[in-house]
Amino acid sequence: MSEKLWAGRFTQPTDAFVEEFTASIQFDQRLYRYDIQGSTVHARMLARQGIIAEAEMNVIVDGLTAILEEIEQGKFEFSISREDIHMNVEARLIELIGPVGGKLHTARSRNDQVALDIRLYLRDELDAIQTALKALQSALLDQAEGNLDVIMPGFTHLQTAQPVLYAHHLLAYFEMFTRDTERLQDLRKRVNRMPLGAGALAGTTFPIDREWVADQLGFDGVTHNSLDSVSDRDFAIEFCSAASLMMMHLSRLSEELILWSSADFDFIELSDAFCTGSSIMPQKKNPDVPELVRGKTGRVYGNLISLLTLMKSLPLAYNKDMQEDKEPLFDTIDTIRGSLKVFAEMIAEMQVKADRMRLAAGRGFSTATDVADYLVRQGMPFRQAHEVVGKTVRYCVENDKDIPELTLEEWQQFSGQIDADIADFVTLDASVNARTATGGTAHSSVEKEIARARQKLAR
Ligand code: ARG
Repeated sequence: MSEKLWAGRFTQPTDAFVEEFTASIQFDQRLYRYDIQGSTVHARMLARQGIIAEAEMNVIVDGLTAILEEIEQGKFEFSISREDIHMNVEARLIELIGPVGGKLHTARSRNDQVALDIRLYLRDELDAIQTALKALQSALLDQAEGNLDVIMPGFTHLQTAQPVLYAHHLLAYFEMFTRDTERLQDLRKRVNRMPLGAGALAGTTFPIDREWVADQLGFDGVTHNSLDSVSDRDFAIEFCSAASLMMMHLSRLSEELILWSSADFDFIELSDAFCTGSSIMPQKKNPDVPELVRGKTGRVYGNLISLLTLMKSLPLAYNKDMQEDKEPLFDTIDTIRGSLKVFAEMIAEMQVKADRMRLAAGRGFSTATDVADYLVRQGMPFRQAHEVVGKTVRYCVENDKDIPELTLEEWQQFSGQIDADIADFVTLDASVNARTATGGTAHSSVEKEIARARQKLAR
């Protein structure tokens, strides 16, 4: 009973199960560094403002430093009866330095304290995730650059459509991850606002200096409404939303790697280090890593929905419901960081089967559009050209021929506007390299985009 920092108005001890049920120390202990960092700056501010004495502040800060060390050395005993990280640290502080430790919580509440801790924590994680995204993007660029001559089939409806450079296909993901990075950079601005000083909900009667605290902790500024400061979790939801898009991108790439490494496609070989075998079928090598990442996308979407539902209809300001914000947020961060890390390594080691890709790219009349474009350049309206080529393809199907195999006589059955030079336009390389507008798959365009991408990563 005497353990509880809020026990004053209670006459009965907390039910043992309720104590465990309501505690968050099991998971919020991961915030310890930020909790101590925030408390240290808070104590300094209290002394600067003459709210506590300089000597008291020094004892408090030394105590906090000792606690940080205890935790990092694994010597700190986290206790359920002390409920959460805030009270675990504060109770230990009082244990270490005596009643003066009780001055730390002046002009503060756990409500603004936890809001501060999550923002500090998420800010660091955002930076780490951006670094991980860069590593993945850099692996994609290396793959693209190292295989610049490889042609693969481009698909629509998963049917062979037009040949594209493998590098071009990979750069599509580079673009997605660039947008993911931009989203993180943008939401970071809203994470990086300092909520401490809101107190429990209404502000504080002490002459605190919030701007100084914000500055010391590297925030862009303070929050401007105390009720909002303690009840805003938008920033965490925004992050989970950006994380969901990131996982969506990773799951699309996963799906392609799974297809490409199947015997039917046989486009790539994933390193053994990222696959496992079957306990019954000796021939199997399963693409577990991309499958798992594809699967983990579900929990990240789930976390987003959990947080949205958690916050829906909550009255202002703090409610205990909000303690439930942490696990979905932490799980999202762990999942994203793990997925990005394993993907960067897997992409770096991925082997391409260029011959298999080229073979597949030639199937399915993939250069038919190039024939239509040829006729358009001869003056034929595109719709009519489409019809002519459609008939040509039907002829090829019926006679078991491929477009590049047609003789001039055969071509001219379909249009007198086709000359012998058609042969120069229907090869895979010609088809790819004709698409030179910005963002197209031509060798020259892709080289430019790789250079642009490298510059982006260097920033
Ligand atoms: N453990 C709490 C949480 O995570 C900290 C804030 C508790 N505040 C309170 N008045 N019970 O939300």
